[in-house]
Amino acid sequence: LSTMALIFCLTKCCNVLLNPLVNCVLAQEVVSPKPNQTAYIAASYVKFLEAAGARVVPVMINKTLEEYKTLFSSINGILYPGGGVSIISSGYQRAAKIFYDLAIEANKRGDYFPVWGTCLGFEQLMYLTSEKSQLSHTNTSGVALPLNFTPGASTCSRMFEAFPPDLVSALSAEPLTENSHQWSLATLTYNTNEDLKSFYKVLSTNTDGNTEFVSTVEAYSYPVYGTQWHPEKNAFEWSRPYIPHSPSAVRTTFYTAHFFVSEARKNFHRFQSKEEESKALIYNYNPVYTGNASAFEQIYLF
Ligand SMILES: *[C@@H]1O[C@H](CO)[C@@H](O)[C@H](O)[C@H]1NC(C)=O
Ligand SMILES: *[C@@H]1O[C@H](CO)[C@@H](O)[C@H](O)[C@H]1NC(C)=O
Ligand SMILES: *[C@@H]1O[C@H](CO)[C@@H](O)[C@H](O)[C@H]1NC(C)=O
Ligand SMILES: *[C@@H]1O[C@H](CO)[C@@H](O)[C@H](O)[C@H]1NC(C)=O
Repeated sequence: LSTMALIFCLTKCCNVLLNPLVNCVLAQEVVSPKPNQTAYIAASYVKFLEAAGARVVPVMINKTLEEYKTLFSSINGILYPGGGVSIISSGYQRAAKIFYDLAIEANKRGDYFPVWGTCLGFEQLMYLTSEKSQLSHTNTSGVALPLNFTPGASTCSRMFEAFPPDLVSALSAEPLTENSHQWSLATLTYNTNEDLKSFYKVLSTNTDGNTEFVSTVEAYSYPVYGTQWHPEKNAFEWSRPYIPHSPSAVRTTFYTAHFFVSEARKNFHRFQSKEEESKALIYNYNPVYTGNASAFEQIYLF
């Protein structure tokens, strides 16, 4: 993929758009499908975006390209959540690729459309950008870590620009970012992959003691962002002891969401009608309690 120079419209000039903000969260296949329960979204991703002032539309898997194109022109950003499906072939991957390609194309035209990947979503972005899966096994399947910021990342990135300086300090000193992954993009792999290196700026790394891996990225010329860690869990998930809930941890959730939702304020995508919008919104679905049986307190099943 080629990178091209784009003029980024930063918050200073255009976060006063009055379009009703709608963000999407991509569903993924469940492990044991049942009738009417073939895909899910953890409710924490929905709450994450809602907490920063967005409304959420679930992106169902297995839809047609035409349906995805219509949805793309109706929403203001997309979030690829964490999970356990294939990033090479799954309904999640297919939808993620379609929205990624549409987003790149739109951004080239000056239609600012942000894409966010968390955990599996981060890994999916790396695959979509490089068309290769080159992840390394790491011992990071349930651990909170401080971020090792790359030089300048905390002061000179779009993502952390609006974070209060004391929170950036806390992020670099305290274990505020929760990791639940067994696969990672090793820093060494990133450094030797031209497609990734020219597309993404590394904002932070982490290590499991053996392998250093990339933990936060933002694309140089596109509003494409990824964290291997889970910003949404600190405020909204409680079923694992390693999820941090301190004031700084919860502020990390909020400032990350605030950043992404601010990015989504920069386009004018909207639904054709109020009716279509109402039908698409997550409010049509009820989350179910799963905190006694899974890593998520609540999930939406589709
Ligand atoms: C699945 O959902 C459809 C539409 O909501 C409903 O008519 C049907 O009874 C459901 N099937 C099961 C097995 O719950
Ligand atoms: C998506 O399509 C595949 C292949 O046809 C099917 O196995 C799967 O159940 C579908 N999933 C959903 C959520 O519709
Ligand atoms: C994996 O990391 C945990 C700490 O997060 C540590 O207790 C454990 O010994 C490590 N396992 C291996 C095989 O290195
Ligand atoms: C968890 O709670 C739900 C709802 O109360 C219940 O239906 C389910 O059986 C429980 N599951 C386990 C594993 O306890």
